[in-house]
Amino acid sequence: MVKLGVNIDHVATIRQARGESDPDPVMAARLCEEAGCQSIVAHLREDRRHIQDRDVVLLRKAVKTRLNLEMSVDPGVVKVALAVRPHQATLVPERRQELTTEGGLDAVRHFKRIKAVSRALLNEGIEVSLFIAPDKKQIDAAHDMGVRAIELHTGAYAHAFADRLAVEEFSEIKDMTLYALNKGITVNAGHGLNYDNTYPIARIKGMHELNIGHAIVSRAVFTGLEKAVEEMLLIIKGAGQKVRK
Ligand code: PXP
Repeated sequence: MVKLGVNIDHVATIRQARGESDPDPVMAARLCEEAGCQSIVAHLREDRRHIQDRDVVLLRKAVKTRLNLEMSVDPGVVKVALAVRPHQATLVPERRQELTTEGGLDAVRHFKRIKAVSRALLNEGIEVSLFIAPDKKQIDAAHDMGVRAIELHTGAYAHAFADRLAVEEFSEIKDMTLYALNKGITVNAGHGLNYDNTYPIARIKGMHELNIGHAIVSRAVFTGLEKAVEEMLLIIKGAGQKVRK
């Protein structure tokens, strides 16, 4: 079955709004795991707007499934990752002004730098995934730098889905999943996935894991985190395509 990684950044976003200790991302991780997710995702941004260094250290100790640390190739963040050694690092681009990760990495243009950071992480036993657009050139670059996993950016699909016009974007993700699988690369996907648009993506043959944050944490405000995760798991399993807002 396709796995679910829950991104808990926005639990920390609420905490940072007050600068105190609640709500606690470690508690969120525990509840998500109890609800059955297969990994916990956290993004240590350069501006530390939500997840903090201390969270990463505590999550590494507390997470019983797998900790997937989203990160840029910024030297300060790489230093934290090498010290904490999450199970996996997902390399993402970062622009300071953006509300969330807007595009995929340009692994063609920044080949040398991304390869160097990937090597350093892999040498510490950290699995590496690159967050890239569903594009052959990006997949080839990931392959050529010896990276064995990617996360396909589903943002364009999610936007198009909202306008009921996602046929092309869906085909791109499906075709590029197959293309990458044929190169021996593990394929994950994420960004903008929600309770309406996840079902088709979870049906793509060979898809390994979906990383979902905003939709789950938003629903959790009304239902509680465990129920929000359980409902997403039902959709991924194929039993819950009728679970809607
Ligand atoms: N995957 C990656 C690489 C991301 O950067 C993000 C956003 O932090 C997500 C998944 C989750 O996206 P969303 O919050 O839209 O579900």
